[in-house]
Amino acid sequence: MNQLRGNQGPRYRHEAGESAPFAVIRVEKLTPIIGAEIGGVDLSMPMDDVVFGEIQRALAENAVIFFRDQRLTPRQHLDFGRRFGALHIHPAAPHEAGEPALMKIHADRNSPRANGEGWHSDVSCDEEPPMGSVLYIKQCPPHGGDTLFASMYAAYEALSERMKAYLDGMVAEHDGEEVYRGTYANFGVTDKPVYPRAEHPVVRTHPVTGRKALFVNRGFTRRILGIPRDESEAMLRYLFDLAENPLFQCRFRWSEGAVAFWDNRCAQHRAMWDYWPHTRSGNRVTIKGDRPV
Ligand code: SIN
Repeated sequence: MNQLRGNQGPRYRHEAGESAPFAVIRVEKLTPIIGAEIGGVDLSMPMDDVVFGEIQRALAENAVIFFRDQRLTPRQHLDFGRRFGALHIHPAAPHEAGEPALMKIHADRNSPRANGEGWHSDVSCDEEPPMGSVLYIKQCPPHGGDTLFASMYAAYEALSERMKAYLDGMVAEHDGEEVYRGTYANFGVTDKPVYPRAEHPVVRTHPVTGRKALFVNRGFTRRILGIPRDESEAMLRYLFDLAENPLFQCRFRWSEGAVAFWDNRCAQHRAMWDYWPHTRSGNRVTIKGDRPV
């Protein structure tokens, strides 16, 4: 993707590389930049290495992938996540009884909020933020409840060369305190004495693709270190606005039994709570990741 400025043409020009054909799964891109629907896979079945490899590749090429019409038991959902790595336990959110790795994603007429209403990368306040998240929606509202996803590769590639040089080596603080304290009281969750806080590079290199991605988000990133506070605030405002540009986004319309698998290392997401007083309900399994570099 090249970035063009001023009156030279579109601000972002995506040069789509040709993807090699997939042998088993079907991959239908939602946009040239991010998101693809995957067909030909039943996630409840044990997955052979060919399908596993193709799913990994589809995720690497699209940052978020979607599977429709799945029927997963909690065990099958957890097993699917475990195929990609050890599971992450959320520092605050409620989970299903006896299954700390099976997070509840639920909003109904009595909810004070829904999960993930602002742009974020999951738990980026952890020292080792999750690599990916697998959300299975079991109950949908009649309309709405979509999730938006944005490519942080595209956001990075859209920066000017001068801005890339300025951000090179910069570190930002991510803090879970404001996000989590009191947030899940309606689920009966008692607050912890402290929530995670971590420092991460503003631009990270994806360990699988080797591509650079912007790694600041409005949800968790509080300040850029080593520059004056007003400069940090102005810079983060600029970067958040850029990261949330609709040019880099896809929007997924859920159906019951759909699964989304997103890569938190190169994508942010935001859930729309536009369906009150209806119910939207499911579970998320989250996969551990590495310290960003
Ligand atoms: C989240 O995991 O941030 C919630 C996403 C969603 O409910 O669509």
